[in-house]
Amino acid sequence: MVMSDGDSAGTSAADWTFRAEDVTKTYNGEVFANDAISIEVQPGEVYGLLGPNGAGKTTFVKQIIGLLKPTSGRITLGPYDLVEDPDVARQLCSYLPQAQMPIESFKMHEAVHITGLIRGGPADEVRARGDALIEALDLTEWRNTMGHKLSGGVRRLVGYIMTTVWPGKVVILDEPTNDVDPRRRRLLWDQIRSLGREGAAVFLVTHNVLEAEKAVDRLAIINEGKLIAQGTPSSLKLDDRGRLRLQLMLVPGNGVPELPAIVHDSARVGNNLMMVIDEGDAAAGIAWAQLMMVEGIAEEYALGATTLEDVYIRLTGHTSAEPDGT
Ligand SMILES: Nc1ncnc2c1ncn2[C@@H]1O[C@H](COP(=O)(O)OP(=O)(O)OP(=O)(O)O)[C@@H](O)[C@H]1O
Ligand SMILES: [Mg+2]
Repeated sequence: MVMSDGDSAGTSAADWTFRAEDVTKTYNGEVFANDAISIEVQPGEVYGLLGPNGAGKTTFVKQIIGLLKPTSGRITLGPYDLVEDPDVARQLCSYLPQAQMPIESFKMHEAVHITGLIRGGPADEVRARGDALIEALDLTEWRNTMGHKLSGGVRRLVGYIMTTVWPGKVVILDEPTNDVDPRRRRLLWDQIRSLGREGAAVFLVTHNVLEAEKAVDRLAIINEGKLIAQGTPSSLKLDDRGRLRLQLMLVPGNGVPELPAIVHDSARVGNNLMMVIDEGDAAAGIAWAQLMMVEGIAEEYALGATTLEDVYIRLTGHTSAEPDGT
């Protein structure tokens, strides 16, 4: 649930569009961490921000809540200018930072409760919603554990609950699934989806393109400070129509094969070699993959539909699995 729709300014739900216009941020006058980024997000949308390390994602979201001031450009939410009025920005936006939140000296459920109260939620509703989130993310066994005794992944999830126990109209999640196990990641994606359904505009910063593909309504791919693609996952995949993904699992220590001419784009993470080929070259691709197996270079191969990951590789030259193997 997002706090009261109409508000003191008499603004109706329909007016809460988030707009970033030509947001540019330079560090030391030389690094263009953000270069004229424009993004519009409606209430209820889950909007992904994807890009390799150093692309400028965290820089962008920090400017939304006034932790950094844009060098130029505008950021507005409905009638409010968030850059001119950082206090309003902090009131209207909830933020899960990329770094862990400090909760050392509280029991987990206390940390959740206190944050909800600070954000202006009524005590009983904050308690009920906090407990529901603790249960939904399967964290009940640590409800009374002191913050400093929580594991990294659990802390991350508690950070998420603290951020969303009484969410603002914009919710910014910077790498919320870091350190979280695969089962709880799925639970978390469910929660992020329902946050959107409840009416928040959700910014989801993530490296995990495959998971994002299922969770976001729209996304932007940012590279070297520039927004290089924006749209729904399906619209971004349109350019990959008629293409397939050929994947080879290499035998460790036996080298990387020279790629045949049918390969359009490729990327390798460890022993996993991913290539994009035309549908018409499927037979040739399989023949080549089988040859690689006979020669002992590969131990397995798979041919399948292209994913958003392949679009990401084509546009950024990186795989989303770098650097933490997710
Ligand atoms: N305080 C700072 N001073 C100078 N340069 C900075 C500062 N903070 C970030 N940068 C630079 O700005 C660029 C964008 O950094 P940012 O943290 O926004 O990237 P990111 O997309 O969030 O990366 P990651 O995926 O690693 O979190 C990088 O080149 C980074 O080195
Ligand atoms: Mg970052």
